[in-house]
Amino acid sequence: MDNTVYIPPIKIQGIKTKLVPLIREHIVLEPDSVWYEPFLGSGVVGFNVAPHHAVFSDINPHVINFYNQIKDGEITPKRVRAFLMQEGKSLERDDDDYYYIVRDRFNRSHDPLDFLFLNRACFNGMIRFNKNYEFNVPYGHKPYRFSKAYVTKIVNQVAHVEYLIKKNHWTFLCQPFQKTIAMASKGDFIYCDPPYIGRHVDYFDSWDVASEKQLHEALTKVQSNFMLSTWHHNDYRINDSIKELWPECFVITQNHFYHVGAKEKNRHPMVEALLTNYKTTGKINRAAVETGQMQITSWNTCL
Ligand SMILES: C[S@@+](CC[C@H](N)C(=O)[O-])C[C@H]1O[C@@H](n2cnc3c(N)ncnc32)[C@H](O)[C@@H]1O
Repeated sequence: MDNTVYIPPIKIQGIKTKLVPLIREHIVLEPDSVWYEPFLGSGVVGFNVAPHHAVFSDINPHVINFYNQIKDGEITPKRVRAFLMQEGKSLERDDDDYYYIVRDRFNRSHDPLDFLFLNRACFNGMIRFNKNYEFNVPYGHKPYRFSKAYVTKIVNQVAHVEYLIKKNHWTFLCQPFQKTIAMASKGDFIYCDPPYIGRHVDYFDSWDVASEKQLHEALTKVQSNFMLSTWHHNDYRINDSIKELWPECFVITQNHFYHVGAKEKNRHPMVEALLTNYKTTGKINRAAVETGQMQITSWNTCL
């Protein structure tokens, strides 16, 4: 298997880049299965799994719009280069003033290229909207952000997604997770990475115990195999919702460095969990188990 992990052009807090190899190892996907990913975020998981058939969705219209415009040929690598070079020059000249001009412009017009610019120029590559659905992440204070090399890196990321979209049958939908999960049938696969409950999150939508219960209900109504990403524990807390809301699931855990704090001292190692409704057949990385980086914590009964 190709172990390369491609980085998508959009960044988001909670991005699962480091979990892609583990996720890839434990999914069950036949050539004609449809991959359903109702919490797309950056797309790093699905784009690296690269299924032939997929339905990607998110409640955030800007993420979906961005990828749909690549699909429609509206956003091309060439256009991204020209746009970011030009906007980068203005940022270099007017610094934070320019960042906030683009932010206001985006909140009026919702241009997906402005979204890309903001996502790469804002603080920590975050995506956060206020209650009026306005993008409100402050400036990252890097006026020289869009160097030629950095722009080329983003252009290549767009080119890779464009290549995958052309090669496969992918649909991007802006809708709540319930609608996407209800589309799945037996033999399909659902990967869910909702915002984490019990942790500070600022996504397009909020997430609480009631949402997680609705997710559980939606997943138990369909006959597909599913995998859910969540957190297992950190130095201070254990995620009790695993036992309480997902008692029937198998749990695979892996240590993961979760970048939530701006300051090094606020960043705590986080043990991530993958919950599945099937006993995985993936090869276990023995080295990772021996060093404690990965643990199989329970093999319970399937749903
Ligand atoms: C943790 S992020 C997904 C990160 C993604 N797996 C990655 O690696 O980039 C959670 C996503 O769920 C979306 N979301 C939140 N509430 C939702 C809902 N009710 N229905 C669908 N998507 C939702 C957010 O907009 C966000 O993009």
